[in-house]
Amino acid sequence: MRRSLLFIVLALTLTTNLAMAQEKSVNPEINKSFVKPDVAAFVERFESEGREVYDHREEIIEACQLKPGMVVADIGAGTGLFTRMIAPRVTDRGQVFAVDIAKEFVEHVEKVCQEAGATNVKGVVCTSESTELPANSVDLAFICDTYHHFEFPYKTMRSLHRALKPNGQVVLVDFDRVEGKSSDWILNHLRAGKATFVKEVELAGFEVAEEQDFLATSYWIRFKKSDRKTNSNHTTDSIEDIKRLIAEGTAKLIDVREQAEWEAGHLAAAELIPLSMLKSLPADELSTKLAEQLPKDKIIYCHCRSGSRVLAATPILQELGYDIRPLALGYSLLVDEGFEKAE
Ligand SMILES: C[S@@+](CC[C@H](N)C(=O)[O-])C[C@H]1O[C@@H](n2cnc3c(N)ncnc32)[C@H](O)[C@@H]1O
Repeated sequence: MRRSLLFIVLALTLTTNLAMAQEKSVNPEINKSFVKPDVAAFVERFESEGREVYDHREEIIEACQLKPGMVVADIGAGTGLFTRMIAPRVTDRGQVFAVDIAKEFVEHVEKVCQEAGATNVKGVVCTSESTELPANSVDLAFICDTYHHFEFPYKTMRSLHRALKPNGQVVLVDFDRVEGKSSDWILNHLRAGKATFVKEVELAGFEVAEEQDFLATSYWIRFKKSDRKTNSNHTTDSIEDIKRLIAEGTAKLIDVREQAEWEAGHLAAAELIPLSMLKSLPADELSTKLAEQLPKDKIIYCHCRSGSRVLAATPILQELGYDIRPLALGYSLLVDEGFEKAE
C-alpha cells in the first residue's frame, strides 16, 4: 500500500516536471489550414484586392528600404507575394530566403520564382520552433501576417536572433487586435494585439527602432537587436513576466550561489550552477558540462544572494551563447516576491 502510494507520488512529480520543462504551443489550432495547404486557393486569398497588406504591398516593401546585396528572410512566405517583390530589390548580389512551415508553399514559391527568372530565391522549410536559417546570415527578417501564427514565438524569434547579422533587423507587420474596435475576425483569429507581440519580441532580444502608420488595421514595426545582451546590467523583465516564462517552460532559473548556501535554502524552480564552477572551468569543459543542464533555446534567468554575483556569471554564460538575464533580486527577495522555496 505504502509502496504504491510512493509510486503514484513519484509518477505525478515526474509528469509535472516534464510538463513544466516543455514549452507549450501558444495557439495549437492556428496553423491547421496550413497543413497540406491548397496553394491555388491561398494564392486567390492572399493575392487579391481587399486584403490590406496586398493593397499596400508597395508601401510595405518600400518602407523596408531594401538595397542590392542584402540578404532578406521572408518568414512565413506563404504564396510568395512578398518574396517576389523583395527578390529584384536585393538583386542577384543579394538573396531571399522564402521560409515557411508548409513545404507546399515553399515549393510553390521556388517554382514561381524560377519561372520568373529570379535566381536569388532559396526556399527553406522550417519548423514551428525554428526558422532553420544559418547563423549570422541575414540582414533583414520580414514577417508579414505571420507572427500571430507562431506557435513557439520565443523559440522562433531566438532562432531569428541567431540568424541575423549583428546589425540585422526585423520588420513585423501584423493585424492590431483592439477589443471593442477590431473586427470579429481579428478578435477571434489573433491571440493578442500589438503591445503583447512587441513585448514578446523585445523579450527575445530586440528593441523597436521605427514604426510606420500607413496601415489602418495593421502595424508596421522595425526592430533591431537590442544591446541588452552586451551590457552587464540587471534584467528589466518584470517579475510577472519572469514567473510566467519559467512556468510555461520558455525560461529557466539558475542560482549561482555556492553549494552550502543552496543547502541552507533555495528556490523550488532554480537549478544550482555555482559561480565558482563557472569561473574555474575552462570554456570548452564548461560548455560540455552545461550542455546537459542548460538549454540554449531558453531564456536563462540567474539569481544569487544579493544581485552582484549574477553580474560576474553573466559574461561567462553569454560567451557560451546563452540568453542570460541576471536578476537584481536575491534569494530572500525572490521568496518575498512569491517564488516558492524548495522543501
Ligand atoms: C497568413 S500567411 C502569410 C503569408 C505571407 N507572409 C503574406 O503575407 O502573404 C501565414 C504564413 O505563415 C506560415 N507559418 C506559420 N507558422 C510559421 C512559423 N513558425 N515559421 C514560419 N512560417 C510559419 C504559414 O504556413 C503561412 O504560410
